[in-house]
Amino acid sequence: MNMTAQPMTQLHDPIESASIDQLRQTQLERMRWSLAHAYENVPFYRQAFDAAGVHPSDLTCLSDLAKFPFTQKNDLRDNYPFNMFAVPMHDIVRLHASSGTTGKPTVVGYTQKDIDTWANVVARSLRAAGAHAGDLIHIAYGYGLFTGGLGAHYGAERLGATVIPMSGGQTEKQVQLIRDFNPDVIMVTPSYMLNLADEMERQGLDPHKLNLRLGVFGAEPWTGTMRTELEQRLGIDAMDIYGLSEVMGPGVGMECLETKDGPTIWEDHFYPEIIDPVSGEALPDGEYGELVFTSLTKEALPIIRYRTRDLTRLLPGTARPMRRIDKITGRSDDMLIIRGVNVFPTQVEEQILRVAELSPHFEMVISKNGNLDQVEVKVELKPDAAGIGEDGEARVVKELSHHIKSYIGISTRISVNAPGSIARSEGKAKRVTDLRKA
Ligand code: DLL
Repeated sequence: MNMTAQPMTQLHDPIESASIDQLRQTQLERMRWSLAHAYENVPFYRQAFDAAGVHPSDLTCLSDLAKFPFTQKNDLRDNYPFNMFAVPMHDIVRLHASSGTTGKPTVVGYTQKDIDTWANVVARSLRAAGAHAGDLIHIAYGYGLFTGGLGAHYGAERLGATVIPMSGGQTEKQVQLIRDFNPDVIMVTPSYMLNLADEMERQGLDPHKLNLRLGVFGAEPWTGTMRTELEQRLGIDAMDIYGLSEVMGPGVGMECLETKDGPTIWEDHFYPEIIDPVSGEALPDGEYGELVFTSLTKEALPIIRYRTRDLTRLLPGTARPMRRIDKITGRSDDMLIIRGVNVFPTQVEEQILRVAELSPHFEMVISKNGNLDQVEVKVELKPDAAGIGEDGEARVVKELSHHIKSYIGISTRISVNAPGSIARSEGKAKRVTDLRKA
């Protein structure tokens, strides 16, 4: 096939090779539109801007955005279900919602143009990850109100791939279909991928003999160490896709195959900032803090300075002119304070993966002993380490508690469990049970 006969989806979007100046100019024009659109059509934004004494016309350069008030998850809950929408209901073609552990879910809506933009950024993400038209893509993100399944689906179709809309769950059947259909690419949470890899092993399927060459993993925090684990075990490139429903869904950012150095944020649609989570002050690129997004093109649900609670930093572009984010350490909501030390489950994951005998499945149980916080880390032996005996287990406990103490700074009680005994994830993993909150 010659170049002119290739579908457009094979090519990069022009903005992916724009200069920084062109990118900033596009962002400024779009940001003006987005602020005005929000102000004129959503009473919540009008009141919030008026209360802060700012008007969309006050934005003369991108850094003026810092004058505008933040939006938080509670604002979406308070405007449940549809009061954050900036277009009439008959222009909304799709709803999604986050389940939310407590209270009302957060509802998000899309116009046809929003769905189109979303499909384009996911297709762009897949290309950046190394997928192309003609690939067979197995999607094991949940379909339904969660944005993972349908978001991935429309993007993969837009790319020109053949989609297997498997959704989450039915682990045995997933593996049977992977064996029979032999996909090139899989899109799934990293924790569910581990579960699928265990099932492959149980069914005697060697992943290295499959066509599978690429995993597009996200929807939960995962470490660089986990990347190595997944890549070696499955013989694939494991790529990080980032997103959140309030801003769009999957595909807000994607790691590029040529650099594998953290998700590139598709800044022509989603403008990122990092703020100090306590003072709310905007921080310079390179500093760690909370990620905040302003949508630049979204019609149904313009989102202005949305506080994601995700902790990371902004880094200069490498494979693309757009900036990248560092791997997300965790959400500020998931940060545990153990005897005064801040701990994220990703830090524990990293230490567990350093111990050769342990599988990457784990759980943390936090409780109180009198006034003191107590942490139990439940880990699981790899099947081939199942016979290490009491002495072996004692060695594992000693090694892991030493790593955790010296790298994270907390004392833990480690319990070593038989292979397969830790509950498996079929979507986003639940790593922590905090009994202190009970
Ligand atoms: O998880 C969207 C998504 C689906 C992204 C599939 C990637 C793949 P929510 O359910 O609204 O949306 O949850 C968003 O998940 O604020 C982060 O805390 C976390 N998250 C998403 N992607 C990553 C990632 C989807 N690559 C929340 N690394 C976000 C770390 C992630 N955390």
